[in-house]
Amino acid sequence: MAVRTITEYPGTVLAEVGKPVERFDSELAALADDMFDTMYHAEGVGLAAPQIGLGLRFFVMDCDGIKLVAANPEIVATEGEQSGQEGCLSVGKVPAVVVRPLRATLRAQDLNGEWFEREAEGYAARCFMHETDHCDGKLFIDHLPKLRRDMVVKRFKKEKSWK
Ligand code: NI
Repeated sequence: MAVRTITEYPGTVLAEVGKPVERFDSELAALADDMFDTMYHAEGVGLAAPQIGLGLRFFVMDCDGIKLVAANPEIVATEGEQSGQEGCLSVGKVPAVVVRPLRATLRAQDLNGEWFEREAEGYAARCFMHETDHCDGKLFIDHLPKLRRDMVVKRFKKEKSWK
């Protein structure tokens, strides 16, 4: 188990569509352990493989009572609408209000390669969508109007320069 380095915006891997997970072995389980360690260390609620520099469709989350590992995730259904604050470990947790569906159904494979579906509402649904987006090379700021997106990036760069 180890804490990995988080890839930050504008790392190219963050903008790439991840490759499918094909091997469900001890190496994948060890990767999930490292990703949970990295996520908890950074006090995040979700972490996708591209955020540690791996172009892979894989994420872990522990958000609002839902803790899971998702390989080859897809959002298969959504319903309603919610507007709420969101941030990302790859963008220095700078918050911005993002409008997303209220409910989402995630379809993915677990560490044994078994397919499962899980429904969530509110914050956990937001997390499903945010992390699945990472696997598709998309960041939460891609959902923002250009002006607000530029403001988040500007603030992130400014805060980074203080460290
Ligand atoms: Ni993120």
